[in-house]
Amino acid sequence: MLSNEAWGLLVRDGGLRRGGAAGDRQGEIMLEFEGRAALVTGGGSGIGRETCLALAARGAFVWVTDYDRASAEATVDLIGRAGGRARALRLDVALEAEWEAALALTDDHADGLRILVNCAGKSIIAETFAMPVEDLRRILSINVEGTFLGMKHGIPRIARSGGGAVVNMSSALAMKGVARMAAYCGSKAAIEMMTKAVALECAELRNGVRVNSVHPGIVDTPAWHKHGPDEVGALSDTLSEGASVLSADEVARKVVPIGVACSAGEIAQTICFLASDAARHITGAGIVIDGGMTAG
Ligand SMILES: NC(=O)c1ccc[n+]([C@@H]2O[C@H](COP(=O)([O-])OP(=O)(O)OC[C@H]3O[C@@H](n4cnc5c(N)ncnc54)[C@H](O)[C@@H]3O)[C@@H](O)[C@H]2O)c1
Repeated sequence: MLSNEAWGLLVRDGGLRRGGAAGDRQGEIMLEFEGRAALVTGGGSGIGRETCLALAARGAFVWVTDYDRASAEATVDLIGRAGGRARALRLDVALEAEWEAALALTDDHADGLRILVNCAGKSIIAETFAMPVEDLRRILSINVEGTFLGMKHGIPRIARSGGGAVVNMSSALAMKGVARMAAYCGSKAAIEMMTKAVALECAELRNGVRVNSVHPGIVDTPAWHKHGPDEVGALSDTLSEGASVLSADEVARKVVPIGVACSAGEIAQTICFLASDAARHITGAGIVIDGGMTAG
């Protein structure tokens, strides 16, 4: 049982709930992932970090992976201080050998591998007509190949562990084009359709693995501060009226119908739901969490 202090550390943006799911007794702490291990990519920052915290708070052992190992260790430290169980691994999702090495480590874990969250991703904002094809390839290698490799090597292990769930990080921009974001929009649309195709492949195999995608709109994470001045210049006319930095809040006021950015913790909640047995009948679905961006 987690201490009150531990709960305090893990409760972010309403990220942790007591009771609430159908059938839970009021006030009972939900530890629905007890005895299950999860692997999260991009777990060192933003949505990935919040997902690791939320899964650990519900009892999962979490393999926190990131190509920035120090950031993954920082997430593990947060989980450990809250009384959760986790281990940090370096994993560049674009490299098949690193996937194989990371997943081989999960083979010996008592909790098996039951949940895979393919969250690592990158965006680029650049005029298509001036963009080197290498930049496109880099985005595709992380977002598309990374997600593909995770499913290729992760799903057979989840099946061997008794079944479970994959949640792939797509975006509202899989469904809605934005000028100067062709590489990103294309990569996220590819993730959406790979998700559906692999979900059907798993269903055909009756291997007990569900595969879904999430489609956030504007989420307030460190990613918004990672764009260089050229990228900010390319997008700011459209979204931020010449602002010198991109802020999720500022952009959300313009493009999100409800007028506010989403928090990373809120996205983590939807990921936990899809990973849980409460979503047993949901596979091949794309869950949109975008404040209405794609509704019109
Ligand atoms: N922030 C948003 O508004 C938003 C909206 C829709 C979708 N998303 C998606 O959510 C995911 C997480 O984004 P975020 O906003 O939390 O960003 P973030 O920058 O805070 O976190 C991304 C993490 O991924 C890691 N990463 C990047 N490349 C990697 C690689 N090759 N291998 C392993 N790790 C790698 C980074 O080190 C970082 O820790 C991304 O896929 C992003 O496209 C974000």
